[in-house]
Amino acid sequence: MGFWLVAAAVAAGCARDEDPAVAGPGPTADTPVLDEDGRRLDPATGLVLADGYELVAANCVACHSAQQFLRQRGTRATWQGILDWMQASQGLWEFPEGVEERIVDYLATHYAPEGEWRRAPIPAELMPPDPARAQMRELAETVRSSRR
Ligand code: HEC
Repeated sequence: MGFWLVAAAVAAGCARDEDPAVAGPGPTADTPVLDEDGRRLDPATGLVLADGYELVAANCVACHSAQQFLRQRGTRATWQGILDWMQASQGLWEFPEGVEERIVDYLATHYAPEGEWRRAPIPAELMPPDPARAQMRELAETVRSSRR
């Protein structure tokens, strides 16, 4: 009896390491997964939960995980080019009318080039004082006065 309890505990432990489905409580509808910008993610794929994500989840994670492109950024033209390339040479299928457009829309909106969806830079007057800058000004002043 004791042996079987231990064996069951060991088996459960192993399964927990290998199978993400039993690795603890994990994310649920009540514990949203957010990215660094606070956008809600689909726990299964890591895709931003927004209009069109189901199409991307259905068509873009069959051959590689979404990690293949979640770090990629691009305009519509960039994303269209990547899809064209995969269709021409990587075995990506042709999409029904309108689907490709919605996928490209989704990608170009939520995986746009850096800067387009990140916050704007902080205005200079709101930044803390930069000691190096004060030093540079002092140095410039010294050089200027030595030339007088
Ligand atoms: C039929 C299989 C297949 C499907 C479906 C697929 N891809 Fe790919 N994709 C590939 C292959 C193969 C590569 C090349 C992998 C490599 O070189 O490591 C690739 C590479 C990529 C790359 C990297 C391109 C680069 O510049 O290196 C991106 C981004 C990408 N896929 C996005 C997508 C998106 C978005 C979708 C959904 C529309 C998609 N993939 C669907 C097969 C597929």
